Amino acid sequence: MLVTQHPVFRRFWYPVMPLSHLRQTQGQPGNPQPFQLLGQRIVLWLTPEGTVAAVEDRCCHRTAQLSRGCVVAGCIQCPYHGWQFDATGACVKVPQLQPHERIPASYKVKAFQTQIRYDYAWVCLEPDPLLPIPDFPEAEDPRYRVIHDFYEAWQCSAFSFMENVFDNAHFSIVHTRTFGDTSNPIPAISEIRETDYGFHTYAEIPAVNNDLQKSNLGMKEDRTLRCTSGDWFMPFLHRGKIVYPNGLEAILFVAMTPIDDYTSQMAHFWIRSDREEDAPAANIIAFNRQVMDEDRVILETIPADRPLAVESEQHMLSDKPSILMRRKLMALLRESERGSLVSKG
Ligand code: FES
Ligand code: CO
Repeated sequence: MLVTQHPVFRRFWYPVMPLSHLRQTQGQPGNPQPFQLLGQRIVLWLTPEGTVAAVEDRCCHRTAQLSRGCVVAGCIQCPYHGWQFDATGACVKVPQLQPHERIPASYKVKAFQTQIRYDYAWVCLEPDPLLPIPDFPEAEDPRYRVIHDFYEAWQCSAFSFMENVFDNAHFSIVHTRTFGDTSNPIPAISEIRETDYGFHTYAEIPAVNNDLQKSNLGMKEDRTLRCTSGDWFMPFLHRGKIVYPNGLEAILFVAMTPIDDYTSQMAHFWIRSDREEDAPAANIIAFNRQVMDEDRVILETIPADRPLAVESEQHMLSDKPSILMRRKLMALLRESERGSLVSKG
């Protein structure tokens, strides 16, 4: 499935950039930043009100890239002839006009709606999002800490990544240096319940603790059990809550924001019930780096244009979440073609 061929994906919210990237870039505050979402080039910047503006990254004059310009009084200034556009995309300044000349209303660029959640700028390319941005209550709860670990592009389809997150059968084969139990390839089977946003899963997954993970989890044992509740938020966002036997809670947020058909931007952070004194964030990130690298070598070899159709591949019992994901995505595409989708966002 090639995402850019299905306009319905433009009707979802995606985390596109950490706010820290917009606040401070190249030593200067508030520089505009380019991003590509589902093939659409956009430019993002912070407004003086603290909101994020997002407009298409092409000037309506001679199509220069606005992201090469700068932010002036909350507007983006084109680097070519200096026209300025506000957060609604309206042109508010043309330096070449005489003071008595008015700016034509046709001088405008397309603007996109934005939100700020979880220290990320989120963008929806269409005015009627199908679902709201999911709630992660622990992210705003002072009893938990948030550890931002990865914001990086993978040469992988967002769908293949999401499918992998719910695939309990690869742990013992792929994650051999981190948490996979190589002595037991029989995967934990997830209970799965369909929801309006996607699905919810629960599984009790045996895992091995390497030395780094023992200190990260505050455990001496070589093995543990991950009681894992997973949520898939259509189309490409995952929440996984792991409760360990010692009571530690670790909630994973991972979104794969589609840049284009073949590339996805990972937004990845953890929300944990322990403190920095218990397990330094740097060590948690180091362990997750190993886990992500193990997945990456496989996922970047999987073609983005593989069909969604269930019958196009072979399956086993633990593939239930993948099969439901495909069915729900195919239903979404069908309903979108029929024009029968209703916005709940
Ligand atoms: Fe942007 Fe001329 S190309 S002002
Ligand atoms: Co994996």
